[in-house]
Order: sequence, then structure tokens, then C-alpha cells
Amino acid sequence: MFSASNCLEKNHNSHNQHSFVLGTSICPARYEGAVKEDGRGPSIWDTFSHTFGKTIDFSNADEAVDQYHLFHVHLCIDGTGKINQAGVDHYNKLVNALLAQGIEPYVTLYHWDLPQALHDKYNGWLSPQIMTFATFAETCFENYGDRVKHWITFNEPHTIAIQGYDVGLQAPGRCSIFLNLFCHEGNSATEPYIVAHNMLLSHGTAADIYKKKYKAKQQGSLGISLDVIWFEPATNTTDDIEATQRAQDFQLGWFIEPLIFGNYPISMRNRVGERLPNFTKNDVTLVKGSLDFVGINHYTTFYAQSNGFLLRDLIGKVLNDSLADSGTLTLPFGENLKPIGDRANSIWLYIVPRGMRSLMNYIREKYGNPPIIITENGMDDPNNALIPIKNALQDEKRIKYHEAYLESLLASIKEDGCNVKGYFVWSLLDNWEWTAGYTSRFGLYFVDYKDKLKRYPKDSVRWFKKFLTSTWSEG
Ligand code: NOJ
Repeated sequence: MFSASNCLEKNHNSHNQHSFVLGTSICPARYEGAVKEDGRGPSIWDTFSHTFGKTIDFSNADEAVDQYHLFHVHLCIDGTGKINQAGVDHYNKLVNALLAQGIEPYVTLYHWDLPQALHDKYNGWLSPQIMTFATFAETCFENYGDRVKHWITFNEPHTIAIQGYDVGLQAPGRCSIFLNLFCHEGNSATEPYIVAHNMLLSHGTAADIYKKKYKAKQQGSLGISLDVIWFEPATNTTDDIEATQRAQDFQLGWFIEPLIFGNYPISMRNRVGERLPNFTKNDVTLVKGSLDFVGINHYTTFYAQSNGFLLRDLIGKVLNDSLADSGTLTLPFGENLKPIGDRANSIWLYIVPRGMRSLMNYIREKYGNPPIIITENGMDDPNNALIPIKNALQDEKRIKYHEAYLESLLASIKEDGCNVKGYFVWSLLDNWEWTAGYTSRFGLYFVDYKDKLKRYPKDSVRWFKKFLTSTWSEG
């Protein structure tokens, strides 16, 4: 439950208004391994990945890239409220070692791997386990806040709600049976909205505690990381233009509007009706304005088109899942199945650098230009055993991807005035990519899964090091 986006080398002074932080992002569930050590209990992703057929290569992250031993870290709360001191100690060592090297940690409190004990006890995010998350958050503020100055409460709550509770393709794998025949339980019409609401309230409660008890003393900041695909209308018909707006409302708007304006987007309220939970006055006080910065995980752009009356009626009214509720079909293909850009390895990852600038401007115009940190941006190569390592290290495509996305980001800052404060590459090392298992390589460093998890720098490491010392990163 503890992940770090770390800022490399210089730029540690992110309290300075003019500084820009650069770094790489990692996630313990897929880095650490050591799943049975030092009192760590299982998480929902351990259970999910050990269920036959849930990951495409039948793998799990029991070993992952063994960060636990190669860099000793772990914190575990087993659902009883007791703190595992061994875990606290390990993360203390990690934080200290990062700082000693001039790397400033950006710590994410929840990156998808809820302890199984909490899932069982509270029915996961379906219950308002606000105090549980807030207690965990406070434990972290207390133990590390003297050194950790940047907190991210949730990573990609939209993905958690959709993949975990709507289409059921990720842990805990819940959905309506019609949507995914492998789901045994769940209700896609209501559950995604309930878990999203509970995560927003949990975020608000943790932020409130931080603001009242720790912020002034520790001089830190707190945000959330939202996953955002940029959407372009598939055609310039009014239907598709409106559908594009709805796609954005049901993704970014779902979370950012309550956090900035105190309520869900109007299109969601209209379309989801009573299935969308309400914010009480107290909730609004907690949630609205509870961010110092908005983390954005951005990788790709899709076309959006109106589902059309018939399909919307059929799917939307029968299944009522959030994807159908939006009345929008989003695909990386336009007319005549023309792809929107070059594909990386993942089936969802098309390379469309212009989307970065458009997205930054959309947030600037619609949400009052809040400070943004790009908490993830990157692309993957396939894990192909037939490619010799020396060839796999030549990742020109990744270098081009980052250069093009950074150029687009820079234009949004310099030419359009977007308030972007940082950029982290996903990811430092190749690692276990959730349901894609070990088939996908997102790292700047190559990990040899067949030979003691040895790490080798790809060409992109040399590029990134050079970039960190370039004039760009000095703003
Ligand atoms: C977003 C998620 O936060 C991260 O866990 C995942 O590995 C990357 N995207 C790449 O798919």
C-alpha cells in the first residue's frame, strides 16, 4: 500500500515556486515481491493473480523484481489496526536512502493493493471505510512526514472503480455477470459509483487530517493521481462532440469535479440518477478544495463517438454500467479503422503526443489552472524471449515517445501558461504489469527475469540522465 514516485537528482526543492520536479514512478505491489515476509498479509492483488486465468501469462508478483531485498522496504497493516514495526522500519530505510542520494520521494498511499484482510472485513471499497484509510494515512504522516513532503492519497481511482468493480478485469474482479462471464458477483450499475464515492471521502478525510494536524508542522503537500486518456471526437458531428465531453466527464470529471467544485459533473448526475451517491454538506467541506496539486497519469489518446440511441438504450438500460451510462464509445480507431497513432505494446497504448498539450489546456481552462504533476507517462515494449538483451536495450521508440510528450508538455507550459510542476516517467524498472504479468516492459532499466533479476540500463537511461541536466529541466 505504499508506493513512491521519486524525483531524481536535482530539483528537490519543489517548495520553491519555480522548480520543476523530474523523476520515475514505481509501485510496491509489482516491485517488492517477498509477499510472505516480515508479517506481510496478502492483498487483493495476491488473491486475484493467484486465481487461475486472471493474468495473461498466469504469473503473479510473489517475486516481482524483488525490491524488498534489493531494496528493503515494506509496511503492512493487517486489518486489526496493529502497526507492523518491521514494515515501518523498512520504509524508513528506503526514505532515508532516497534522501541521502538527493532523491525526494512522492509517496502514494494506495496503489490498488488493498490488504485482503481489509477487503474481507469491510467489503473492500464498497463500504465507507474512511477511518481505516485515514488511520493508515495518518500512520504514514506521523512516521515519515518529517522527511516525506509530498503525499498522493490514491493512484487512479477511476481505474479501480471501472476495472475492479464495473468490468471486473482487475482485483477484486467484481462486475455484473452479463459484462464478464468470469465474474461471480458484483453489480456494475451501482458498485463503481459507490467505491468512487468512498475513495473520494477517504481522500477528503485523510487530506483534512493532514491539513489540520501535519501540514504546517511538516511543510508538505497532498494530491491524488488521476488516470486520464485524452479524447478527440471521432467526427465533427454534434453527437460525437457531445459524446467526447461525456467521456471526459465520466473519467476525469468524475473525480476532479468533486475535488474542485464539490459535486459530480452534471452529465453524470443526469445520466446516472439515483445510482450516483450524493455528497452531504459535510462531505463537500471535506472533499472540495482538498488538493494541493493534481497528479495526472497520462499515456494515450482515443477517439470518442456517440453510442447512438439504440445501442445506448439496449446496453445502458439493461446493464446500466458506467461505460454504457456515458453513452460514449471510446476507441483508438477512427473512420475505416484508422489508428489514432502508433501503438506501443499494450493494446490500449497508442502514441499521440498532442494529447498531452490538449489535456493540460483542458484542465487549465475548465478547472482554474491548478498545479499539475504528471505522475506517470511512459510506454511499453513486449517481453520477447527471442530478442537478445543487447537488442532489447536499444529502446529508441521509448526515447522518442518521451521526447515528443515532453515537447507537447513544454508547449502547454511555455506557450499556453499551464501550471505544470513535474513529470515522472513510468517506470524506473521493468516490472509485473498487473493482468499483463511479465509480458510488458515499461522500464528505463531492463530486468532479466531469467537471470537473478539482473538490471541493465536501456538507452533511455542515458537519454533521461542527459535530459535531467538539460536546460529544459531547469525551466
Ligand atoms: C497506470 C498504473 O498506475 C500503473 O500501475 C500501470 O503499471 C501503468 N499505468 C502502466 O499500465
